[in-house]
Amino acid sequence: MDFPLYEKIANKIEHQVHEGIFLPGAKIPSVRKSSKQMEVSVATVLQAYSLLEDRGVIKARPQKGYFVQNTQLQPENLTKTVPSQNGSTTQTLLNCLLHASQDESIIQFGAAIPKSQYLPIRQLQRSVGRLMRLEPEMCAAYEFTPGSLSLRRQIAIRMLDSSCQLQPDDITITLGCQNALMLALQAVTEPGDTVAIESPTYHGVLQAIEVLNLKAIEIPCSVQTGIDLDLLESTAENWNIKACVVTPNSQNPTGATLDNQARQQLIKQAIEHDFTLIEDDVYGELSYSDKRERALKADDKNDSIIYCSSFSKSIAPGFRIGWIVGGKFQAQIEHYAYVQSLGIPTLTQTAIANFLENGAYDRHLRKTRSAYQENLLRCQGLIMKHFPEGTEVSIPKGGFLLWITLPNTVDSMILQAQALESGIGLLPGLAFSLTPQFSHHFRLNYALDWDNRTDSALKTLGELCQQQININ
Ligand SMILES: Cc1ncc(COP(=O)(O)O)c(C=O)c1O
Repeated sequence: MDFPLYEKIANKIEHQVHEGIFLPGAKIPSVRKSSKQMEVSVATVLQAYSLLEDRGVIKARPQKGYFVQNTQLQPENLTKTVPSQNGSTTQTLLNCLLHASQDESIIQFGAAIPKSQYLPIRQLQRSVGRLMRLEPEMCAAYEFTPGSLSLRRQIAIRMLDSSCQLQPDDITITLGCQNALMLALQAVTEPGDTVAIESPTYHGVLQAIEVLNLKAIEIPCSVQTGIDLDLLESTAENWNIKACVVTPNSQNPTGATLDNQARQQLIKQAIEHDFTLIEDDVYGELSYSDKRERALKADDKNDSIIYCSSFSKSIAPGFRIGWIVGGKFQAQIEHYAYVQSLGIPTLTQTAIANFLENGAYDRHLRKTRSAYQENLLRCQGLIMKHFPEGTEVSIPKGGFLLWITLPNTVDSMILQAQALESGIGLLPGLAFSLTPQFSHHFRLNYALDWDNRTDSALKTLGELCQQQININ
């Protein structure tokens, strides 16, 4: 049906309100502005606005303009869209999670982001405030790749703890670890190449592989011992593997940490089969053991391992500050980093460099690690108490992520949809593989405020699982 022009305009604005472009209470463009934007007469816009008033979408306030009615869709309704259970792609799932992770009313078991109480927000606030007072022009500045020298110096010092002897020039600052992983893959592969990855793996790796048109071979990763090196060996014998992305410390999502023997074997395999190891160490600083694990990069005699990390898990996820040590690929990586972003904000780099320099970081890490260990015990205990028999829980040696294996009659996509209805976010196993093999698994973030609400959310999850078992 062909609607009159004013009705088409009204429908368009109503659609924008429902899409969340104009939120409840927001002012919509004035009649004059809309008339100009849409190239229609003022009278037509007035007619459209009057229709929207009749529909209860907007309300006129004398002398002020037109505003979206508060009874319209609330932001939480917009973000609680549940993905369909069949035909749902990793992309849909992740979009849903990302929206849910911004919704404060949801218990955020899903996102791998610590609650602000586990981040040194106060110190960063003071540092950013001081920098803005003393050097206000810093807020407009950025530093060309490879990034701030003082930050790279601090990173080189910190990496001594993982037995890496580096110069600041070996390091390039990136936009988080995700950017570092992308740069690493870009530097060592061509579209169509094959990359070995852990299975399950961090979903950002799957997305990077997809965007770069690479092929992935998933190598099983056990909760206790990490990537299966025998299978990696036979895969490398039969396939032309260009790179292998591994997370030796507190792997996401299994929490596995490789022992020293496995680390040495992995390096040997990479040399023998001529593939590049891309080491993702984003949880390395959050290991619960007293001594920091030795990085693969520390034993990189051929300068061919690429090391990626960031401060997202331990200092400030929102600063998006990470780094990459590219070894013999460094020049190529720096070039790509420069082309993709030119540089990184000076303010956030300097704030982190100052925080690292003043020695508060180690104190902060000690505090958070011990809080995570406490949360872990509480969380494991509650799961054992409330979840159906046959549920298995990982035993991470660091970080703040738990991998839960449910009895195989429980579908974690259904669980996710039902949990979201109860205001609980979680990330189903399907997000961690290109195959549906983890359909009865999910990942849970325990870097949250642990209180009665969180406890009862875990109880609810257990009950939802039990309900599925009863129905099946
Ligand atoms: C294993 C792993 N690598 C990389 C990243 C990305 O980190 P960043 O937020 O610094 O980009 C994450 C984030 O969850 C992760 O879990």
